[in-house]
Amino acid sequence: MQNLINGKELSKILLDNLKVKIMNIKNNRLPKIVVVQVGDNPSSNKYIQHKIKSIENIGMLHDHLKLDGRTSQEELLKHIDFLNKDETVDGIIVQLPLPKHIDVFTINSRISPKKDADGFSPCTIGDVVLGNSIIYPATPLGIIKLLEWKNIKIAGANIVVIGKSNIVGKPLANMLLNKSATVTICHKQTKDVKKFAKESDILISAAGCANLVTKEFVHENMTIIDVGANFVNGKYCGDVDFESVKDIVKWITPVPGGVGPMTIACLLENVYNLYLQNCLK
Ligand code: GUN
Repeated sequence: MQNLINGKELSKILLDNLKVKIMNIKNNRLPKIVVVQVGDNPSSNKYIQHKIKSIENIGMLHDHLKLDGRTSQEELLKHIDFLNKDETVDGIIVQLPLPKHIDVFTINSRISPKKDADGFSPCTIGDVVLGNSIIYPATPLGIIKLLEWKNIKIAGANIVVIGKSNIVGKPLANMLLNKSATVTICHKQTKDVKKFAKESDILISAAGCANLVTKEFVHENMTIIDVGANFVNGKYCGDVDFESVKDIVKWITPVPGGVGPMTIACLLENVYNLYLQNCLK
């Protein structure tokens, strides 16, 4: 398929570059990431497994702190305080979702901005909105890298983002705006998503709803980025009805093999950038 944006290919290039940079570190400690997990969510287990495979592959150091699902918010905050102070740790991620008794905002607010590999802390988000951050949330950053890799013009483009999550929709919309796109965010309460979508040059779906984007949403000059990660009848799929739109649009990301691998590569780039900031200054 000539119009496929292959995230696996670009992520491999980025990870190979990182691997070389880490291999070339001399006379200094290596970058380290700590993945904190609370409970045993099967999707989280799978995501973390993928992350750790990539981390090991590029020679980055890591710890997986897997806490019991009944861990209290106070205990989790103590672990974060400890990691914030540990000078051998460059990046901390707390895998989401967290159990219901733990407040995500409180947790993300406690991670030191100097170690905020996910870019979810309010302080980092402020820098992201202002376009003045060392790191950017990994999924939005991965999406922008995919567009730039294929020379798909962002400045001046009409871009529709479906989904207003703190992890993808909100940071992504701001990052695209900083690159001078005209951005519309659609969400569950939007009256006619199809109408907005149809008028866009780039349609990015991060709604978490299988088969949301059908051929009625698209046109032949459109780029589609599918951020969905849904399981339907045991099969992993995105938000886009891929088969019905793939031969119409100009560019499209597959699921799997599109945005997903880019998220991991950009997360590890973030850790490396934090390492440079923390360790080599
Ligand atoms: N859960 C789903 N996506 C993510 C992510 O990018 N980071 C973290 N920490 N948790 C997630």
